[in-house]
Amino acid sequence: MQQLTQRLEDLSVGNEVLDADHRSIHAATARLAACTTETELRHHLSTVLELSKIHFRREEKYMQVARFPHAKIHAGQHARFLNTLRHYHNVTEPGFLLLIKPDLEEFLDGWLIDHVLSADKAYQSYMIRSAPELAALAREARSAAQQAQ
Ligand SMILES: [Fe+2]
Ligand SMILES: [Fe+2]
Repeated sequence: MQQLTQRLEDLSVGNEVLDADHRSIHAATARLAACTTETELRHHLSTVLELSKIHFRREEKYMQVARFPHAKIHAGQHARFLNTLRHYHNVTEPGFLLLIKPDLEEFLDGWLIDHVLSADKAYQSYMIRSAPELAALAREARSAAQQAQ
């Protein structure tokens, strides 16, 4: 797992914005491992959920702009992952998250690494080919975010 984790850190899917998203989600899942209380776990799980939602929305938009032909199947994988996370997050039984913490860590790490190495990596050449359009999209998003501040 350590080697795969390092590979994920070094891996590019052909777009620096998406690469940065992957590193952030990975860092958030790594922080989850250090949690010792139910409250901390729930908080970090919310962070992973939010970062994933933002990333998937962006990635799905980029796949559309890059005319990646398998975008719909890919988006289905994202939706299933979010449903699983929401399911864990919504269980309110005291002690549940701490009980399943090892499984949760394995699921998050495993899913992220598998998904990036297979599904995300499959769109790499499309992202590279559409780099100018995607860079313009990223600039627009940055300026909209600055104006909102
Ligand atoms: Fe993806
Ligand atoms: Fe991704």
